[in-house]
Amino acid sequence: MARSPFFASPFSGPTFPTTRPRRNRATDWSRRLVSENRLSVDDLIWPLFVTEGAGAGKEVAAMPGVYRHDIAGIVEAAEEAAGLGIPAIALFPQTDPALKDPTGTYAVDDDNLVCRTVRALKQARLPVGIICDIALDPYTSHGHDGVLRDGAIVNDETVALLVQQALVLAEAGADVVAPSDMMDGRIGAIRHALDDAGHQSVQICAYAAKYASAFYGPFRDAVGSAANLGQGDKRTYQMDPANSDEALREVALDLAEGADMVMVKPGMPYLDIIHRVKASFGAPTFAYQVSGEYAMIQAASLNGWIDGKKAMLEALLAFKRAGADAVLTYFAAEVAKILKAG
Ligand code: PBG
Repeated sequence: MARSPFFASPFSGPTFPTTRPRRNRATDWSRRLVSENRLSVDDLIWPLFVTEGAGAGKEVAAMPGVYRHDIAGIVEAAEEAAGLGIPAIALFPQTDPALKDPTGTYAVDDDNLVCRTVRALKQARLPVGIICDIALDPYTSHGHDGVLRDGAIVNDETVALLVQQALVLAEAGADVVAPSDMMDGRIGAIRHALDDAGHQSVQICAYAAKYASAFYGPFRDAVGSAANLGQGDKRTYQMDPANSDEALREVALDLAEGADMVMVKPGMPYLDIIHRVKASFGAPTFAYQVSGEYAMIQAASLNGWIDGKKAMLEALLAFKRAGADAVLTYFAAEVAKILKAG
């Protein structure tokens, strides 16, 4: 019998490949045994939208299954998170348009909606970390993350306001402040100010590599900044999707300035960035599965085009494989329920 030279075997018998990767995949127990990554409830951070007035209880357009909550609703969601074992929630406010102005003054008001929400959460004494976004976009009349002057976002003046925003949130009881604004030097400035004010234990999760992405659309609707931003874009401060080395430089700066965790955002189109960041720095690295990613999975699923549950679990597992330590995902509660059920 003719033998293939590629599968030369010292044993007699028919031609065969000596290595058959399928052997390990043949049974469920074997697949479980050789599985390299696992999604756990400990990997989840649940982003929540807080509002007051008419927006409460309303579903976010393009985010089926995601609702804005009033403060009491946020406390209920946090109780649900605690019951499911989700380690942390991240708060994002929808601000009354009447409270918006060009410099986002309401962001630094120590009695603003997020501060009041944090105080209510603290009173509930739940074993859930409270992460608060640092950026001006929910508060500015132009929808940008910083102060706009003569058509430009002014860096250092914005940083001074972000520092004030971080201080009022830390004072209210935020466990983690998460600057998502992409101004230069804001991590160091916030760290120093927090330390000076006695908030040494408040952690900083830096949105270190945040891209100017089209996948934030539904979020901007959820917080109400879409209408303010209009056709504007954030390309003078958020990163160019073409760049990868630049992400490493951003992460290096944020870690040197005192970031405790770094984030890559968006998630799924940027798995290579997550991998490089984790491999290069070995620091706690989070991924943000953003609103547009959620919307895509939900839209295809609701059309019957994909199995939404499987796609959701696969996408989240892929973040773990890429090197993420945790994932911000609007699916957090749904996934935690599935993981709990086994
Ligand atoms: C604001 C902010 C954005 C997101 C989180 N924080 C939007 C933006 O930068 O325009 C997006 C989150 C999402 O799309 O789910 N600084």
